[in-house]
Amino acid sequence: MSHKRKKVTVVGSGFVGSSCATWILARDLADVSLIDINEGLAKGRALDLFSASPALNSNINLKGGSDYSLAEDSDAVVITAGLARKPGMSRSDLLLKNSQIMKSICHPLKEICPQAIFIIVSNPLDAMVSLAHDILSVSREKILGMAGVLDTARFKAFVAEKLNCSVKDISALVLGGHGDSMLPLIRYATVGGVPLSVLMSEKNQEVLIERTKKGGGEIVSLLKTGSAHYAPAVGVVEMLESILKDQKRILPCSALLKGEYGEKDVFVGVPCQLGGKGLEKVVEIPLNTEEQKLFQNSVQSVKSLIKEMKELLN
Ligand code: 2OP
Repeated sequence: MSHKRKKVTVVGSGFVGSSCATWILARDLADVSLIDINEGLAKGRALDLFSASPALNSNINLKGGSDYSLAEDSDAVVITAGLARKPGMSRSDLLLKNSQIMKSICHPLKEICPQAIFIIVSNPLDAMVSLAHDILSVSREKILGMAGVLDTARFKAFVAEKLNCSVKDISALVLGGHGDSMLPLIRYATVGGVPLSVLMSEKNQEVLIERTKKGGGEIVSLLKTGSAHYAPAVGVVEMLESILKDQKRILPCSALLKGEYGEKDVFVGVPCQLGGKGLEKVVEIPLNTEEQKLFQNSVQSVKSLIKEMKELLN
């Protein structure tokens, strides 16, 4: 029998990284290596989580440390390391610092686990996944950014709150870059199969679109130090589960476009089918003229961010 346990490495043991490990443990999904520049933090969090496994009836092994050899044989690697936004700081303000951190992480990973499927979470998301892709030189099937799942989850939560309905009945999709230009696709949103436009006034739809776009910022200003981590971590685990269990779910992720949606060589949020091979398909959906324009604007802002990052790094 050659059935081997799955293994996920999580780089960064801050709130997002340790929350990812918590959910992987809770769902009994894979063994976990937690890596952090702060060795004690990674070891301590791994030990703390491992001690939770008996009560959770979970069988996973958890290790922590600062040595990249912990990532050997990983099926997937989640990169969460980087500074979090402070109040008043845009995702772009993080650009230089987090791109330096991303470079320092991707170089060793390229040597140690080139076979893994990579999920990038650090911000500014679309720029970080693009940089990681350049360094890791893996095919587009093996590298994705986690943002659309999070933005869509926020959108669904806000819709459920407004309509006083179950989040379980909501189907929705947020496309574009992970920033103010993201595009919650109201036209494709349904509640129990009923189009949202039938259930909600245009004015209220606009309010929810705006709240979704600023969803991360709303949490940053409430927390004052740090940013969201519960919903981002659950978003990562949804993607991981579809990959590790070959579920073939269609989830919005930042993926490298190769002509889809009329765009090439840029990472941006689109519906992706995720399975055992990673990104198995970019799903193209028809956009009307207005949506197409908003999507192109979003792609343009991602491209400017990547250009700015490249200039800063030179
Ligand atoms: C968010 O949207 C931090 O980008 C992350 O909450």
